[in-house]
Amino acid sequence: CQKPFALSSVFRPGLFEGRVAIVTGGGTGIGKAIAKELLFLGCTVVIASRKKDRLASGAEEIRTWLTHTGQQATLHVLQCNIRNEEEVKSLISTTVLTYGKLDFLINNGGGQFISNTAEIRLKGWNAVVETNLTGTFLMCREAYNQWMKHHGGVIVNMAMDMWKGSPLMGHSGAARAGVVNLTKTLGVEWAQSNVRVNCVAPGSSIVSPTAAANYGDLNVFDGIGATIPMKRTGTVEEVSSAVCFLLSPGASFITGETIRIDGGQSFYTTPTYSLPDSKPTDKYSWQSCFDAEGPEAAKSKL
Ligand code: ADE
Repeated sequence: CQKPFALSSVFRPGLFEGRVAIVTGGGTGIGKAIAKELLFLGCTVVIASRKKDRLASGAEEIRTWLTHTGQQATLHVLQCNIRNEEEVKSLISTTVLTYGKLDFLINNGGGQFISNTAEIRLKGWNAVVETNLTGTFLMCREAYNQWMKHHGGVIVNMAMDMWKGSPLMGHSGAARAGVVNLTKTLGVEWAQSNVRVNCVAPGSSIVSPTAAANYGDLNVFDGIGATIPMKRTGTVEEVSSAVCFLLSPGASFITGETIRIDGGQSFYTTPTYSLPDSKPTDKYSWQSCFDAEGPEAAKSKL
């Protein structure tokens, strides 16, 4: 059982005092946990999301929680659809104008839906790629051009466990693999400006009410802990602490990197996707060249 107002960071209190961060998707799930930990460490945090109601209820919860911790920090709420270039430009400029700087950008906002790839319509594909990959690109570009290019900064992007392909999430897997590659590119291109760019890749076993609601009847967390080398599910706070590490001076020589936060799940071979039992004959296979000529002819060629 989790204490509602338990101590909220393994890092030194005040570590991020005087810093300003934007957390996209900051009203729910992993984003909310990141916003809380940053605030707890003294950072001014702007949470941004497309959905106004989710932002408002998330902000209320965060403020109540912060009061109980006894810590003081500023939480600012801004609505922004990261797929929209003008809204992204305005999110960054409003933050810089209001707080005079932008130290940290956490590109957590994203989403997907479960579907066989063959059944994904173009509109759905584009929506997922635009949110997860293009949205991350736009946020990075604007943070860099409007502030970090001349002042430095730290960016953390969000990927997922897509290392062995992403059955039933082909759109998101492709987009997140793009984010991992973009992270490497920007880590190199922006190193000259003292901008570090890294990424975290949470596994599918990070439990949050938002994720559970997203997948509804699929009960994606049922029994998943037993399939993971560390024999348990993970928490949003375990993602948040990795993000805070990457933002901290403790990671000052790390850039372009992606950290997996999955209890070893992606290195272990337990399938998360059940293959159909049977497979029809493959007429394009090497073997079929011989089969076509009949078994006797095939034998004589071996
Ligand atoms: N979180 C999920 N989708 C988003 C979007 N389009 N903009 C901002 N935050 C999001």
